[in-house]
Amino acid sequence: MKALEGVKILDFTHVQSGPTCTQLLGWFGADVIKVERPGVGDATRQQLVDVPGADSLYFTMLNHNKRSITLNTKNETGKEVLERLVKECDVLVENFAPGALDRMGFTWERIQELNPRMIMASIKGFGPGPYEDCKVYENVAQCTGGSASTTGFLDGPPTVTGAQIGDSGTGLHLCLGIMTALFQREKTGRGQKVMAAMQDGVLNLCRVKLRDQQRLAKGPLQEYSQFGKGIEFGDATPRAGNDSGGGQPGWIVKCKGWETDPNAYVYFITQAPVWDKVCEVIGKPEWVTDPEYATAPARLDKIAAIFDAVEEWTKTKDKFEVMDICNPLNIPCGPILSMKELAEEPSLRETGTIVEVDHPERGPYLSVGCPIKLSDSPVDVTRSPLLGEHTEEILTDVLGYTGDELEAVKVSGAVGDMPKAEAAE
Ligand code: COA
Repeated sequence: MKALEGVKILDFTHVQSGPTCTQLLGWFGADVIKVERPGVGDATRQQLVDVPGADSLYFTMLNHNKRSITLNTKNETGKEVLERLVKECDVLVENFAPGALDRMGFTWERIQELNPRMIMASIKGFGPGPYEDCKVYENVAQCTGGSASTTGFLDGPPTVTGAQIGDSGTGLHLCLGIMTALFQREKTGRGQKVMAAMQDGVLNLCRVKLRDQQRLAKGPLQEYSQFGKGIEFGDATPRAGNDSGGGQPGWIVKCKGWETDPNAYVYFITQAPVWDKVCEVIGKPEWVTDPEYATAPARLDKIAAIFDAVEEWTKTKDKFEVMDICNPLNIPCGPILSMKELAEEPSLRETGTIVEVDHPERGPYLSVGCPIKLSDSPVDVTRSPLLGEHTEEILTDVLGYTGDELEAVKVSGAVGDMPKAEAAE
């Protein structure tokens, strides 16, 4: 049995943020019914195509463990089918542009009328306020949530990060909101609205930068390497390069092979409790007792010089040798792992964090499996559905359409072509 077995998700999500959320729900065992526009589907099916004629990796990697029904929700019969789905399901998840669901005729009031137990979960770019009507994509959220202004080097422009904290990050937030609402419904019997705004999600992940904004009012941020270099602070949390962001100074330093390998680097943390070990390893034993270096406060204005010395040593080792030497000494450090290295890492395959999935149109591909492991609810990653693959199955098995009623839906134009799974295989 899976944790969410029996929970039905009406999945109106598209692109990345919403699908991240419903994919997690699917991995935890919910029946995720993805509603897509006939003949079109989720736009990502056709974005960044690498195998002509096949669903893209963008789509397949975000839509595992789901079923797909094609339904034109602006057609009268389509609306009737959708009403039945609303009555049948536990959670509706959507990340349309603001107002789209209302324009379809499915306001929160109407949904409550149809199913008072329904949890309606939405992702929008912004919460209520001046920008609530705006459409938003990943990098817009990174910029408006405080991430871009605090990412990058001090002398460079604001920078977005490769981690999809706006889309996938907000999907995770929404998933947590849904689980909480399901838990509350157990006691109250009532559904509720769950809303996660991308700006809010990014800001939540940038919490430590708002911490620093307030500390800045009290004086310069001494743990930023900018302080050691004597560069004055402005009135907002600055970009901190590879500074650690916590109380223990850290930086990315070169390792053996850096001249040709763009990822021959290691993140190195000069953690105070093991300072003596750090000094020994990097060949500066005199710094253990030198009052200029012996204490963490004394080191604050020399962080850049300290990491220069660390780098002199790391340049003589490859990034894995650095790990091997430092880990037994409790010196925290981490190699910069490329996507290629991660894809090939056997331990990640063993835990199911990287999985190989077979697909009828594209053959086997790699995906990131569920990063959350439940001992009593193991995840089996199944391939993403073809467009409309489960339309007939959902109409009959979930909604109980049979005979003439089923035929009427088929000829109404409300649903698209219905490819059979067997045919696809
Ligand atoms: N049948 C009929 N119509 C459908 C449909 C279906 N099954 N599914 C969607 N549509 C319609 C919608 O009703 C909407 O029509 P309307 O504008 O006439 O009301 C239309 O398709 C387009 O929806 P929209 O959400 O506006 O798509 P978009 O491609 O223009 O915008 C986003 C994409 C992501 C920018 C936008 O959805 C958005 O801002 N979402 C919230 C924030 C978010 O999640 N962003 C990150 C995405 S990774």
